[in-house]
Amino acid sequence: MNYTVAVLGATGLVGRTMMRVLEEQHFPVGRFVPLASENSAGTEVLFGGEPYKVQTPSAEIFSEVDIALFSAGASVSKAWASIAADAGAIVIDNSSAFRMDAGVPLVVPEVNAEQIFDAQGKPAGIIANPNCSTIQMVVALKPLHDRFRIRRVVVSTYQSVTGKGKQGLRALEEEIAGKTFETYTHFHPIAYNVVPQIDAFTDNGYTKEEMKMINETRKIMGDDGLMVSPTTVRVPVYGGHSESVNIEFETDFDMDEVRRVLESAEGITMIDNPQAQQYPTPIDCYGKDGVYVGRLRKDPSHARAINLWIVSDNLRKGAATNAVQIAQRLIGKLIPKPERIAVQGSI
Ligand SMILES: NC(=O)c1ccc[n+]([C@@H]2O[C@H](COP(=O)([O-])OP(=O)(O)OC[C@H]3O[C@@H](n4cnc5c(N)ncnc54)[C@H](OP(=O)(O)O)[C@@H]3O)[C@@H](O)[C@H]2O)c1
Repeated sequence: MNYTVAVLGATGLVGRTMMRVLEEQHFPVGRFVPLASENSAGTEVLFGGEPYKVQTPSAEIFSEVDIALFSAGASVSKAWASIAADAGAIVIDNSSAFRMDAGVPLVVPEVNAEQIFDAQGKPAGIIANPNCSTIQMVVALKPLHDRFRIRRVVVSTYQSVTGKGKQGLRALEEEIAGKTFETYTHFHPIAYNVVPQIDAFTDNGYTKEEMKMINETRKIMGDDGLMVSPTTVRVPVYGGHSESVNIEFETDFDMDEVRRVLESAEGITMIDNPQAQQYPTPIDCYGKDGVYVGRLRKDPSHARAINLWIVSDNLRKGAATNAVQIAQRLIGKLIPKPERIAVQGSI
């Protein structure tokens, strides 16, 4: 079975990475449909070695699409996701537009893949991809929560400039090249700097990015009581996001067992040999699909807590790879459109 797959945001950092991951994973793409804004309409992108003309989205286009991967920002998703879903496409949305909607599953396949489908096995029309810093954290939290019950998580992030799209990357490159700005993409200079603000502040003094880490973690883990205390920080790197995470368990635990649980968990690669200076860094994780964990150690200040360090490429597992992994769960369970028409025609 081959599917008609659209990428809305095909000229952006996440969209381009989605195309690369679809190719690498040999996703069964019968027809590829790249979509972006008016600015890119008519330009070409390469997919599977072939050039494709970029179009702007329309209901007519979505009526031929089986799976639509959205990565063009929340306002574009709000404008087009329902139209695409009503036209029969399954939308996998990378933006924040629908993540907290009760009827929309928020999915990290290693954690809650079953939520892609309803009780009858029918996929949701819109499936939300979580925030990048949340995805990599919950991949590590889930197996620990299942085994030891997590009470509280204190997390500080060190987030790549690519988290702010192509503008965010360009800002770092131009500032390093000596260009100065009156208004900064990252609120302050990002070259040779560290900025403890990602997205706008909310009334409680936390940023929207920090509130996403609280609310999305609870929704994905299915535990409204899970306490998360985040500080999200932009740093001048481009390989991926890093997180320093303190985890407090409800029960006593054995450190060797914690290590075994993480080592055997789906999606996690442990890089943890401090004597040999081995731990994950964004440069090592750049362009890779996994979630990398190191610096695992007992918290010397708390009997039931540990510390660890999590790194992942935010454009990969934090966005494109997670979306493609959701799409992979649809393979075989979704009848491609031409066949659907043939089936209807034969009735
Ligand atoms: N970067 C990350 O690490 C990350 C992680 C998780 C989720 N996300 C989410 O993914 C989305 C895209 O992020 P990005 O980093 O790829 O941003 P980006 O590099 O700035 O790319 C934005 C894309 O959206 C398209 N677009 C903008 N306005 C549009 C419109 N009105 N109609 C159609 N297409 C439009 C752009 O097309 P043009 O080139 O034609 O302007 C471009 O293809 C955002 O919702 C972001 O929050 C990003």
